[in-house]
Amino acid sequence: MWHFKLCNVQNAAVFFSITLYLYHSAEAISISSPQRSLTRSVQEDVLFSVELTCTGIPTIQWTFMSGAVSRAIGMWQPGMYSNITVDYSSRVKPYDNGSMGLSDLRLQDAGYYVITVTDSTGSSKDTGFVLKVNEVLYEDLQYLSVSALALAVCAGLLMLAMWLLHKACRKIKAWRRRKQMPERDATELQPL
Ligand SMILES: *[C@@H]1O[C@H](CO)[C@@H](O)[C@H](O)[C@H]1NC(C)=O
Ligand SMILES: *[C@@H]1O[C@H](CO)[C@@H](O)[C@H](O)[C@H]1NC(C)=O
Repeated sequence: MWHFKLCNVQNAAVFFSITLYLYHSAEAISISSPQRSLTRSVQEDVLFSVELTCTGIPTIQWTFMSGAVSRAIGMWQPGMYSNITVDYSSRVKPYDNGSMGLSDLRLQDAGYYVITVTDSTGSSKDTGFVLKVNEVLYEDLQYLSVSALALAVCAGLLMLAMWLLHKACRKIKAWRRRKQMPERDATELQPL
């Protein structure tokens, strides 16, 4: 009985300190972003927009993940330094509020982008973004196929119109012949 109580007290203490820790770390850093899921086309630009609040100057780190691939993009401290990986240096723009701009998108850029914020006390927090990159070629092909379909429908309608005209002409000719026939029949029949 006594043993049980001791256990409970210990559990409560652990639970309490975990809650306090979580509350504290949640309080320390906040990352807010208007949109976590973005879709762009090849060659377009994207802004992973975030707003940070934390104690001291934050260290911002962005990482790209796709399948088993995990690649560091860059790390910076607002007003202090920015260190962008060679692969991304020409396309990445770091912002003081933690946001990252990525320009001239490629198909391989599709995936997850994780921002990790570390504050001056050493605690950190991260948030992920999903980026989809659409192929422009596909839209072109779609446009082409729609145009081809429209052309085919036009050609079909033209052929139908010509066939109807042809039929109408033949009917008119037949009707004219029939109109002339009785007279000829009559003249032919007269001698009989
Ligand atoms: C962060 O800063 C950039 C550039 O000044 C701005 O475009 C973006 O909207 C900001 N993000 C947020 C969430 O305020
Ligand atoms: C920039 O980051 C790389 C690793 O991502 C590191 O090796 C290098 O020392 C860093 N440079 C600076 C100036 O912090």
